[in-house]
Amino acid sequence: MNQIKTIAVLTSGGDAPGMNAAVRAVVRTGIYNGFKVLGINKGYEGLLNGDIEEMQLRSVGDIIQRGGTVLQTARSSEFATPAGLEKAMSMAKVFSIDALVVIGGDGSFRGAKDLCELGMNVIGIPGTIDNDIACTEYTLGYDTAMNTVLDAIDKIRDTSYSHERCSVLEVMGRKAGWIAINCGIAGGAEAIILPEKEFDIDKDIVIPIIDGRNRGKKHYLVIVAEGVGGAVDIAKYIEEKTQITTRATILGYIQRGGSPTITDRVMGSRLGARAIQCLAEGRNNRVVAINDGKLVDIDIMEALSMKKTIDNELINLSKILAL
Ligand code: F6P
Repeated sequence: MNQIKTIAVLTSGGDAPGMNAAVRAVVRTGIYNGFKVLGINKGYEGLLNGDIEEMQLRSVGDIIQRGGTVLQTARSSEFATPAGLEKAMSMAKVFSIDALVVIGGDGSFRGAKDLCELGMNVIGIPGTIDNDIACTEYTLGYDTAMNTVLDAIDKIRDTSYSHERCSVLEVMGRKAGWIAINCGIAGGAEAIILPEKEFDIDKDIVIPIIDGRNRGKKHYLVIVAEGVGGAVDIAKYIEEKTQITTRATILGYIQRGGSPTITDRVMGSRLGARAIQCLAEGRNNRVVAINDGKLVDIDIMEALSMKKTIDNELINLSKILAL
């Protein structure tokens, strides 16, 4: 028999557009299924501090269109310690939490797995603009972030064309180049530099720019992922070698904000509802995910052991299209 009566939801790690849609779906489908639903503020930090309140249907009204997370988020160093985990478990007991829904990235899921090993029922919902969670094709916030980057690329392109310049744009992704590769393809970049791949500045950046100029190009775009960094230095180097005026732009946190796109709102709603469905059916310790375009759920241990790499097809395509 399913013993779960009270579930709690938190958002953790970097915020991502679409997290609110997921919180809303967890709360509303949770109440619909007869659960008591608690909201934990500020991620695992809030669990440690007992910053927890009961959610009602109306607690999540008017949030689906908002970026960020209404529950707020944090990266907690105390929680990552054995003492922190024990404290989290005893606070969960104080609030009679039978299951925890964690909306966040890989680091947040590792925290959920640690709690699961201490006996907590957990469900993970992938939420990070980086799209770097191995068990799923899609993470909440990815689509909105890419649209924000693309809007910036189109604007930079206008001024770059007018001045016949080269632009080097640094986009988010410390370890993952998903935003970089897709936005580079969609924005028509001459070169895309990813944290997953070694690069040679002359071969991969300078030569494609010079070749482009010889073919009559009027402006140039280089996308550099945050994990590679050094956009300003790369810009200086390009200018020195090509004599093309080159400017660097670091997009930064603008990529994490903004109203979620329809994709992120619908994905957040579906993933949130699936999390509750798992708990209602007694399938605990799962990560809900999208695979081959379909909503699925995967054992959390298995999910965390998976690896994700950028498709060579995308990398090759980006090179051909830059010709
Ligand atoms: O994981 C999302 C992300 O925005 C990464 O792209 C970036 O490297 C990181 O978070 C920044 O984290 P913080 O908010 O701690 O500076």
